[in-house]
This record gives sequence, C-alpha cells and structure tokens, in this order.
Amino acid sequence: MIELSAITKTYAKSAVKAVDSLSLTIKNGEIFGFLGPNGAGKTTTIKVVTGVLKADCGAVRIDGVDLAAAPLDAKRRIGYVSDNPELFARLKAAEYLNFVADVYGVGSVERQERIARYTALFGIKDVLSASIGSFSHGMKQKLLISASLVHDPDNWLLDEPMVGLDPKSAFSLKEIMRERAAAGKTVFFSTHVMEVAEKLCDRLAIINKGAIVFNGTLAELRTSQGVDDSLEKLFLELVDDSEEATA
Ligand SMILES: Nc1ncnc2c1ncn2[C@@H]1O[C@H](COP(=O)(O)OP(=O)(O)OP(=O)(O)O)[C@@H](O)[C@H]1O
Ligand SMILES: [Mg+2]
Repeated sequence: MIELSAITKTYAKSAVKAVDSLSLTIKNGEIFGFLGPNGAGKTTTIKVVTGVLKADCGAVRIDGVDLAAAPLDAKRRIGYVSDNPELFARLKAAEYLNFVADVYGVGSVERQERIARYTALFGIKDVLSASIGSFSHGMKQKLLISASLVHDPDNWLLDEPMVGLDPKSAFSLKEIMRERAAAGKTVFFSTHVMEVAEKLCDRLAIINKGAIVFNGTLAELRTSQGVDDSLEKLFLELVDDSEEATA
C-alpha cells in the first residue's frame, strides 16, 4: 500500500508548486493509473514516493512505513521503473541485474530464477552478456523493468512504462501487472495511453497542475461527468474543465 498525505514539492528557482498538497492512497491488490497532461506533476509525485526527490512537506508511507523516518525500510518495499532508462552504459546487462540483486540482498537461487523469468518474458535473455551501452531504448527499458522486479517488491511504481516497448513486451508488461495485483501487490503507473488505462486499471487518478482533479474508478468518472464516454473523452473534458476553473 502506498499512502501520500498532503505532498507539496516546489523545484528550486521555480515559483510554482509542481505538486500541491496531493493526497492519494493506492491499496494492495490494485492497479492504479496516474494520468495527466505533460507537466502535470506525475513524474515529480512518483519521484517523491520513491525517495528520489524530497517533498517540501507532507508524508509518504509504504506499507505503513514512513519514508522520511525509515527510508531504507520503506524503499526496500518499492520497485521503481523511471521514465528514463539511461543506465550504466559500461556495465553488462547481467552485471547490472546482479548489482541490483546485491543491493537488495536477494539470494542467488531467487535472483537467478527471477532474472531468467523476466528477461525471457521480455526477450533480452540472450543479450545479458552485452554492455548496456549497446542496447536500444526499448531493450534498456526492458532491462530496467526486469531489474525493478529482482527483489519481488510489494509496491511497483512505473513512470510511463509502455513508452518504446514493442507490442509483445507491452503485452508481457500488462500481464505481469495483472499477476502482481492478483497476488495482492500494488501497481502504480503513469501513462498517456488512455486505452491501456481504460482496460488495465482498477482505479485511476487524474492530476493537472499539481493537483488531483479526479480519483476513483472509471465507472465513478463516468457518473461524475454524467456521460458514458471513453476515458479519452472524459479525460479531455475534465482537464479542460479544470483549466477553465483555474483561468
Ligand atoms: N528538474 C526540474 N526543475 C525545475 N522544474 C521541474 C523539474 N522537473 C519538473 N519540473 C516542473 O515541474 C512540473 C511537473 O513536472 P513533471 O515532470 O512532474 O510532470 P509530468 O506530469 O511527469 O509530465 P510528462 O507527462 O511530460 O512526463 C512542470 O511544471 C515542470 O516544468
Ligand atoms: Mg513525467
């Protein structure tokens, strides 16, 4: 479970709040989609939850563990796929996966099993002895996704994970997301692909200009807007409405 309470984040030298008093709870067993236009604050929020960025104020709890009070304990419970798969170019892919497994203290049998499974699913098992610098963008993305699962985290955060994935890998990713949620784990991901969010998510939140403008199920979104539209249309209407309200 991931809990954000009144998170605010302002970047240095910026007058505006990238995230403004944002509260959100992602429950166990849930695939939670995080939607919003470019610059809305999705990446900033995810980086605050993973501890990459420090919030100005507010609290993050991972499975009830306070990130500020017990950062290592909280971060151990997280797997993170950033929006930028730029990794150590000189490392071989296998070295990187083993490095991540070492950091999390994953035993040799478990790591071998997980590395074999995920790299096979994503079709990179045969290139693990190559250096990461020789990988395409999509291959790096698949390596990053595999690495984020090496310690089998209960909370999986992914920032636009579908970008650059071929159809087979995107399918595998969605299957893994479903499998983890079905096992009671938490999946929290941002995306601009409305069709994916519509089909995959149990619940979703829409963020605009650092604030949540909707949080609930697709059915609740339809009820709140009073129309039976696609998520794409509902999203565009809602973001337009919130633009007008703040204009
Ligand atoms: N390193 C930074 N320094 C200053 N401002 C930043 C920085 N990173 C992001 N911002 C600002 O914070 C706001 C939120 O950006 P963020 O990257 O969180 O948006 P996003 O929702 O992830 O957008 P996208 O869909 O384009 O990935 C934007 O106004 C952006 O300009
Ligand atoms: Mg982003």
